[in-house]
Amino acid sequence: MSRTIGILTSGGDAPGMNAAIRSVARSALVRGFKVIGIRRGYQGLIEGDMFEIGPRDVSDIMHKGGTTLFTARSTDFTTEEGQKIAKKRCDEAGIDSLICIGGDGTFRGALDLHKLGVKCVGIPATIDNDIQCTEYTIGFDTAMNTALEMIDKIKDTEMSHNRCSVVEVMGRHAGHIAVNVGAATGAIEVVTAEREYDINAICGRIAYLKSTGKQHFLVIVAEGVGNSEQIAQQIEAKTGVTSRATVLGHVQRGGSPTCWDRVIATKMGYYAIELLASGAENRVIAVRNGKLVDYDIVEALGMKKRYDERLHSLLGELAI
Ligand code: F6P
Repeated sequence: MSRTIGILTSGGDAPGMNAAIRSVARSALVRGFKVIGIRRGYQGLIEGDMFEIGPRDVSDIMHKGGTTLFTARSTDFTTEEGQKIAKKRCDEAGIDSLICIGGDGTFRGALDLHKLGVKCVGIPATIDNDIQCTEYTIGFDTAMNTALEMIDKIKDTEMSHNRCSVVEVMGRHAGHIAVNVGAATGAIEVVTAEREYDINAICGRIAYLKSTGKQHFLVIVAEGVGNSEQIAQQIEAKTGVTSRATVLGHVQRGGSPTCWDRVIATKMGYYAIELLASGAENRVIAVRNGKLVDYDIVEALGMKKRYDERLHSLLGELAI
């Protein structure tokens, strides 16, 4: 059966998106499907910003950060009118199926298009790893390793000056980056949305550790939970330990993807095309118990994400 498959990336970019694009494109091409790359996510789809992809068009991209298809958060697509135009563009280009790479917002967009008759499969990609249905999202490993590298550098200077570093990492509303890099860098505490924090308890801990001879301290704060600058000031005022705040920011979203992100993106891209070829539609790919599975998009969006409470507790216990 002849098919034309569109690919887009939407929402925040994530390292590994290019490996997913390559895998989707080549898995489709080897089956004889036509592949259309859509630039700038749903916004580009509305504007008809698309081009046919051949095997050479996705050469030498899998090691690159960002997304070669560009990305956007489209407000036009949130309207019914925008969605109808997007469907019209699919019809004009002969696109019967769409692979949508991104986060929850991207999957909600896929659902909207599915309702209008486009077969969609979502591939989870966001550095935050905050998609409910899956244990892993493309980009998470690279982002954590980037944060880790930065924090290791901060620790060198923190240690030399006997200071407390308060480092804010990304995660929007989720503490998955924070708790993992906190554990990997020996933080005495992580502040995340998933667990209430008490600044007095953190300061009390620092004061106690100082009394036992510890001279430098690291606190990791997940973006959107507390103000890292304010937390540093409070720590300094209450403990007398000179404190500095650093917001790592968008550096965490860039860079060459790790081996793991390239491999998982490659597997997910292949799986997505297998799904479409088998006649499935309206699915999201996920990792469950380390294996690739797929869920109905509505079901996937309704699931609850697990936070690693145990890791959060144990890193605190090791801070002695
Ligand atoms: O979802 C990825 C992410 O980097 C979040 O961690 C962060 O909250 C958000 O995107 C930042 O978005 P923007 O780049 O639009 O400021």
